[in-house]
Amino acid sequence: MSTRQNGAQNDGAARLIVGNCVDVMRNWADGIIKLTVTSPPYDGLRDYKGYDFPFEEIANELFRVTAEGGVVVWVVGDRINGGRSLTSFRQALTFQRIGFTAHDVMIYQKKNTPFTRSNAYTNAYEMMFVLSKGKPATFNPLKAPTQRHGYEMLTHNKLPDGINKKKLGKLNKEKTRTNIWSYAVGLGGTTNDKIAFQHPAVFPEKLALDHILSWSNPGDLVLDPMCGSGTTGKMALLQGRAFIGIDISPEYIAIARQRLEASGIPVAIEQNLVPPG
Ligand SMILES: C[S@@+](CC[C@H](N)C(=O)[O-])C[C@H]1O[C@@H](n2cnc3c(N)ncnc32)[C@H](O)[C@@H]1O
Repeated sequence: MSTRQNGAQNDGAARLIVGNCVDVMRNWADGIIKLTVTSPPYDGLRDYKGYDFPFEEIANELFRVTAEGGVVVWVVGDRINGGRSLTSFRQALTFQRIGFTAHDVMIYQKKNTPFTRSNAYTNAYEMMFVLSKGKPATFNPLKAPTQRHGYEMLTHNKLPDGINKKKLGKLNKEKTRTNIWSYAVGLGGTTNDKIAFQHPAVFPEKLALDHILSWSNPGDLVLDPMCGSGTTGKMALLQGRAFIGIDISPEYIAIARQRLEASGIPVAIEQNLVPPG
């Protein structure tokens, strides 16, 4: 049975749209998106089949369609050619000027295939700007196992004489993760879906999954306005969220469609989708 929650037709199908995301979002009501997980084309690094990328207009539309308490995760690196372009920072400052809170600046560390430089340290990360509209309405913290846990004699009161007082205390088995997340990249790391690699810049499924679990709940509407091979959509739908994906390239939307359908996710290709506000 299909239900409508947060403005989405939540029937388990991915809604994919070919178009410039600015033009598509302009037709939508304010505040309908709970979470966006996306990665823009940056610094003309790759040939994305002739896209048009009006960054500031995209940022403005994203702010408008994001719900109060909603979050945009913007995964971006810099072109490194001589020095770093710092486009990532400029974009983050623009988001802040527009009205987003820079809730966090997280690091996506790549475990393999880092970018080596002859005169600088090997670059092994991209930024993940976590931008919220007001205070995030949802935070489901992901946990990591602790090195030591159980009962131990713990220092609890260091007096001016420098003598540590020790008391039996309990160390937890897990703690909230840090804001540096590491993922293996390439086939078997980024994804096992061979078809995804027909797109030149796929981000890891686990990265999308971890943000979806952190900043949204089942039934929420998740957006990727530059969805490429459909990574965010795959993980959002497998987690019971509703999903809309937009890409300017019909070829990439075709790849996303095949990939999602191969994962058992029904796909609806939409032309004039206006999610109810
Ligand atoms: C870095 S890739 C996204 C890859 C995606 N995260 C994945 O895992 O497959 C950026 C995408 O933005 C798309 N794009 C560029 N400009 C766009 C625009 N104005 N509107 C919609 N999509 C756009 C490109 O076609 C490209 O597929």
